[in-house]
Amino acid sequence: MNIKEAIVNRRSIKHFDPEHQMTEAEIHELMSHVILSPTAFNIQHWRFVRVIDPAKRQQIQAASFGQTQVTEASLLLVLCADLNAWEKQPKRYWREAPQDVQDFLLPAIADYYTNHHQAQRDECFRSSSIAAMSIMLMAQEMGYDSCPMDGFDFDKVAKIINLPHDHIITMMMVVGKKKVDARPRAGQLPLNEVFFDDSF
Ligand SMILES: Cc1cc2nc3c(=O)[nH]c(=O)nc-3n(C[C@H](O)[C@H](O)[C@H](O)COP(=O)(O)O)c2cc1C
Repeated sequence: MNIKEAIVNRRSIKHFDPEHQMTEAEIHELMSHVILSPTAFNIQHWRFVRVIDPAKRQQIQAASFGQTQVTEASLLLVLCADLNAWEKQPKRYWREAPQDVQDFLLPAIADYYTNHHQAQRDECFRSSSIAAMSIMLMAQEMGYDSCPMDGFDFDKVAKIINLPHDHIITMMMVVGKKKVDARPRAGQLPLNEVFFDDSF
């Protein structure tokens, strides 16, 4: 599948085949491509929690207004991000870069984020959202479907997955074999309402 087809065919699927299981090799293929997505300063803020335990899946479904894709999909990921990733051994984000690049970038990371709490949080959402799109497109490529989700109680899910105090949940994502097609697209805004030249 080419990228254009993946973009056109991707839809948010609500009903999945609960019997279908993704293999470990497939999940590895999916996630090892997802982590090639870009992040500011290559900080890779994302942390992905795969929820396997059926009891936890049930609890998360209850915290998600009963949405059935939480338990029916083959894969449930809670997309999280580390607010303090920027200051946790940042050298490792550039370990294979030439020394002069490291010497420039490591102080730049500190300058950009120190005491800038909004920037730290915004970056988590940017990184995580780009990774989310990679998951959805890779799922298409691999013959799977997906649904991004924020219709859940974030505090309850945080407790269920034991979220560290300096991490946030950005969204959830399910991946699996669709059982029911999505309804026709609800209505995209016309391009000229959302796309501008030079200024608003
Ligand atoms: C951040 C985000 C959160 C969403 N949360 C949910 C959700 O909780 N449940 C759901 O069924 N769909 C959810 N959706 C899917 C949207 O409803 C869907 O993307 C939108 O209606 C457009 O449809 P499409 O994705 O099939 O093109 C979410 C989408 C995004 C991007």
